Amino acid sequence: MAIFVTGASGYIGGAIATALAESGQSVRGLVRTEEKARRLAAAGIVPVLGTLDDAETLAREARAADAVVNAADSDHLGAAEALIDGLAGSGKPLLHTSGSSIVSDIANGEFASDRIFYDDDSFDTAPARKQRVAVDRLVRDAAGRGVRSAVLCNTMIYGRSRGLHAESVQVPELVGQARKSGIVRTVGPGRNIWSNVHIDDMVDLYLFALKKAPAGSFYFVENGEASFHQIAQAIARRFRLGEPQAWSVEEASNEWGGARVLYSLGTNCRVRGRRARVELGWAPRHTSITEWIERTA
Ligand SMILES: NC(=O)c1ccc[n+]([C@@H]2O[C@H](COP(=O)([O-])OP(=O)(O)OC[C@H]3O[C@@H](n4cnc5c(N)ncnc54)[C@H](OP(=O)(O)O)[C@@H]3O)[C@@H](O)[C@H]2O)c1
Repeated sequence: MAIFVTGASGYIGGAIATALAESGQSVRGLVRTEEKARRLAAAGIVPVLGTLDDAETLAREARAADAVVNAADSDHLGAAEALIDGLAGSGKPLLHTSGSSIVSDIANGEFASDRIFYDDDSFDTAPARKQRVAVDRLVRDAAGRGVRSAVLCNTMIYGRSRGLHAESVQVPELVGQARKSGIVRTVGPGRNIWSNVHIDDMVDLYLFALKKAPAGSFYFVENGEASFHQIAQAIARRFRLGEPQAWSVEEASNEWGGARVLYSLGTNCRVRGRRARVELGWAPRHTSITEWIERTA
């Protein structure tokens, strides 16, 4: 099978491209620099130099492939349009990478939400994530243009990627700050809860979806959840630091940036991925982000 992967030098796309190449598939990966192209080639992935704005390149690569994994940027509408144009009428799979902040709230770490979003039910999305939701919709609607399209909506991904970029976001942001200062910090008291998934389980789900996700489908990619306070406690145990300390929104924004605090580190995002288990037979193996942090982060 010939598979075209965008984001092939990144955390998510790199993990998927590596797994596909190792299983004997012929993988071509979009890459922006000569240096990363050389490193991809060394990992058995054929580099395609270009960017998400090169619509012709994306459509041409999609047309020539048996399947496409779009894992560079959940918010890039033009790239999704170009990939769909290339695949239209073929019945081939297009897996698009989205992110579960489409249902996050604004909590500034102050409370644990009791709202849980299920992928086999309808739900409202966060106004701040309009662009991301529009890309998801476009991809799902590509079913009507003869594409076996699916949206994989990932929660907080943890674990080391086997691609060129080993680190995710969120946990590494907290760890980086803690190791620099000797104190683990949360936004407010860190009562806010996020669902999560290990990168290896996420890769397995993409492989299942490539084989059998129905056209127009949507999956939350999750296997467990934890509050940021629990995550911070695990980081403290891992690096033998004291009890986590609360930061005000202003202090947290100075470290991580206002947008990261408002839309990610200070929010609740509780989802359940029932469809992947029922429809695809996905059986994730990693159950605890806090255990992983204590052993490996
Ligand atoms: N990590 C998570 O927990 C998570 C969870 C849910 C959703 N997401 C979303 O999934 C997407 C990928 O996340 P990630 O963690 O894999 O990020 P990442 O490690 O930064 O990887 C992004 C990849 O896409 C490439 N890329 C970005 N913009 C591009 C452009 N305009 N043209 C060509 N290539 C481009 C990057 O290329 P370079 O190597 O040249 O920079 C890199 O290879 C993001 O939109 C992210 O918000 C991530």
